[in-house]
Amino acid sequence: MAASPILTRAYKGKWALITGASAGIGVALAEELAAAGANLALTARRADRLEALAQRLQAQYGIQTRVIPADLADPKAPSLLYEATEGLGTPIDILVNNAGFGYLGEFQRSDRDFQRTMVDVNCAAVVDLTHRFLPRMIARRNGDILILASTAAYQPVAYMATYAATKVFDRYFAEALAEEVGRFGIRVSALCPGPTESEFGQVAGSRKEEKRKYQSAAEVARLGLEGLAQGKTWVIPYSGGRIQVFAQRFVPRRFITKAAEKMFRPETVK
Ligand SMILES: NC(=O)c1ccc[n+]([C@@H]2O[C@H](COP(=O)([O-])OP(=O)(O)OC[C@H]3O[C@@H](n4cnc5c(N)ncnc54)[C@H](OP(=O)(O)O)[C@@H]3O)[C@@H](O)[C@H]2O)c1
Repeated sequence: MAASPILTRAYKGKWALITGASAGIGVALAEELAAAGANLALTARRADRLEALAQRLQAQYGIQTRVIPADLADPKAPSLLYEATEGLGTPIDILVNNAGFGYLGEFQRSDRDFQRTMVDVNCAAVVDLTHRFLPRMIARRNGDILILASTAAYQPVAYMATYAATKVFDRYFAEALAEEVGRFGIRVSALCPGPTESEFGQVAGSRKEEKRKYQSAAEVARLGLEGLAQGKTWVIPYSGGRIQVFAQRFVPRRFITKAAEKMFRPETVK
């Protein structure tokens, strides 16, 4: 893959920690940063996938890599990730909070632990990791943090109630933090994709609708990282999403919420 000049200028020779690097958008983010010459610490639960990705990117782009398998539902995982990087003298200049998952279906029929873990991984781990890595970034007056939100963060979404709420959290957290730490030279950005090619639907239990247009993870990753490097505090990586979010400002939220309920209602619900 040809490197983005913006990303090469911003990130060549730096170290990035990417969560959720075993699939989908996380793999694409790793590829973009590797092509730009950044060294990578990769984490997720599936160690075999991380190892294979690390070896491929190392061979292809001549970068350094580190693989740190961890389950972000475990409250001890963020400290393990910190100790395996900053703790060993590897400064993390770019923190990519990408790991996450959703659930599509009726809330009351879903597994309670699955819902609870979604909040742990999508929100609690993001706060914990960011809180751990930020102080040294501030001390160095250098650091970038990308947080994966979603276009689901712009309205309540029935049948994805918990997921959409976690993504509002991520988006607001990122945008607020960006204002708070910008004065120290730290850039924070919320990346808000729409439907993107990945394993997300499989995990969330949704059927892929052929009619629906899915954006490539590679395009989402490039636009999100370029936005971060350019100091944008949020990025919606496709024009349809930007138009939709803009238009929603002029419609009462209860109408939008009702429309979303119709759109996401499973066939089993009459
Ligand atoms: N795809 C979309 O349409 C879309 C749209 C908007 C936003 N997003 C956001 O994009 C991010 C990436 O999702 P994706 O679409 O690339 O989905 P994906 O292909 O399913 O990848 C999710 C990644 O998160 C990791 N992960 C899940 N649970 C974890 C846990 N307990 N501990 C550690 N890692 C965990 C997975 O790794 P392991 O299973 O190996 O642990 C995997 O690497 C998510 O935050 C999602 O909310 C996706």
